[in-house]
Amino acid sequence: MNQFPRGLSGLFVFLVAGRLLTGCESPERHGATESSREIVFDLDKSDERRLLSFYLGGLLSRNSSDPFEASIIVQRRGTFLLDTERLGLLNQDLLVDMKSLTDDGVITWDEFEQFINARYYAYREFPKTTDQLMDLVGDWSLGSEWFSFEVNGVMSPHRRKIHVPLVHLRKALSGYRENGDRLLYAVGTTFVSEHIDRGERVEVSVMRKREDGFWDFFAYGATGGLTGEVVRSPNNLVVPSKCIGCHFGSRLFEPERSFPADAAPAPEGPRALYVQKGEKDVGIVRLLDEHRRRSDTVLGLYGTLFLGRLKAQRAAGSISEEDRIILEMLGL
Ligand code: HEC
Repeated sequence: MNQFPRGLSGLFVFLVAGRLLTGCESPERHGATESSREIVFDLDKSDERRLLSFYLGGLLSRNSSDPFEASIIVQRRGTFLLDTERLGLLNQDLLVDMKSLTDDGVITWDEFEQFINARYYAYREFPKTTDQLMDLVGDWSLGSEWFSFEVNGVMSPHRRKIHVPLVHLRKALSGYRENGDRLLYAVGTTFVSEHIDRGERVEVSVMRKREDGFWDFFAYGATGGLTGEVVRSPNNLVVPSKCIGCHFGSRLFEPERSFPADAAPAPEGPRALYVQKGEKDVGIVRLLDEHRRRSDTVLGLYGTLFLGRLKAQRAAGSISEEDRIILEMLGL
């Protein structure tokens, strides 16, 4: 400050003091000084409560727990604050990590997103390879146990083969009415999506339902090891922060939006669900309205396509008693 002429330097001191006294700084950036126990989230996102529940719930414990219920995050005057003392009682490692994110007591979205993308896998401890995933969830190539179909959609330039366990799909459909006309999947349900390029599996993307009702997102590369990115243009999808962009939102996508009508191809390639003609059924599409409602963060048409297959089986006289009851219960 020595280079300032005396008058100006006096004015500078006066301005700084005035700023401190009147508290002119943005209110969010006050959290640290108000109580050093709290770190302020300054994320500037539309649904911050959901984002914080999803991310911090996943980091808090392997079984995932609600950070609001545990009073680790509190909301005050529209701002979300991390209570470092409470967090320290539950998870010291996470406390150290969160503190290292900020030296001014405020965490911005960029800081938080970078941290999440760098550390999510370490905290969640997903199976390290597709073989280990298969040990955990079973062999998804078994048609007797998994429901599978192929799709060309917006998520990937590749054709994808998506699998979900039949037992979980049937359970979600059986509970449709009692869950208030919603398709809700059981904890542990896993969607496995193989991305196929010229006959070779080049990636696998996965969603697995957590104890707190959110889904984990993770992915494997061509050699079967966990990968932090899935190929897409113009930018690859970084796991998990870019996954929820579509999966948490309400935007409609092709080919699900047009189904059972065919979707027009996009500049990047075809948009199509590869199912038998006899399995397409307008009544089922109307009943479930699955893609639009996305009752459980799931975007594909699993209930719709499976029920279509069951109706075809019933017509052919090859349906099981269990499946006949599911159709009847839904009035189909
Ligand atoms: C551009 C939008 C978009 C993004 C980003 C996106 N998805 Fe998807 N995802 C979809 C759509 C749409 C479907 C439904 C099937 C289809 O059309 O491909 C889907 C389906 C899935 C499924 C099957 C279960 C379901 O919801 O239907 C999995 C698993 C999945 N995505 C994982 C991921 C992962 C992991 C990421 C991040 C790497 C991700 N998704 C990012 C749009 C997206």
